[in-house]
Amino acid sequence: MKNPGSLLILVFLLGVGGCQTLSKPANTGEDAALYQALGERSGIATIVTDLMYRIADDKRIAFQFKGLDVTRFHRNLTDLLCALANGPCTYTGKGMREVHSGMDITATQFNALVEDLILAMEANQVPTTAQNELLAKLAPMYDDVRDQ
Ligand code: HEM
Repeated sequence: MKNPGSLLILVFLLGVGGCQTLSKPANTGEDAALYQALGERSGIATIVTDLMYRIADDKRIAFQFKGLDVTRFHRNLTDLLCALANGPCTYTGKGMREVHSGMDITATQFNALVEDLILAMEANQVPTTAQNELLAKLAPMYDDVRDQ
């Protein structure tokens, strides 16, 4: 071997690579950026708390949430948003269609909740690009949430 140093480097690189394949791949790039911009799970939990106060004060939709199990809603919405943002969370609540069926949710009510979410993200210094990224992931849920 002309250069035993290069063999050592190769063995080292293979070793590092081998370790990486054994562990969970890191969430890097754009995906991780959204989760980070939302402040990870704790930041998302704060945004959801803020959102819930806004919903309670919002005459357009507050009535829909009468008798709400606050703890369950907070946990499940936090996990859902965290998972949508590619964070390490698992959503264990009900399906969107099942949970919202029979509520007669209108397009106006859907938009009102989205507006409250934007205000909650704004109040928690989430950059506009990240806000739009999360909203783009929520938009396809429109058909499952609104009046069937
Ligand atoms: C993108 C829009 C929405 C998303 C992502 C969403 C998400 C969720 C989630 C994750 C839950 C908890 C499910 C569970 O605990 O199993 C939930 C429950 C609920 N949502 Fe929505 N929601 C949306 C829009 C709306 C709108 C527009 C309204 C009414 C104006 C609404 C009213 C409710 C109510 C009242 C509950 C509690 C149901 C219960 O516990 O029985 N949601 N939603």
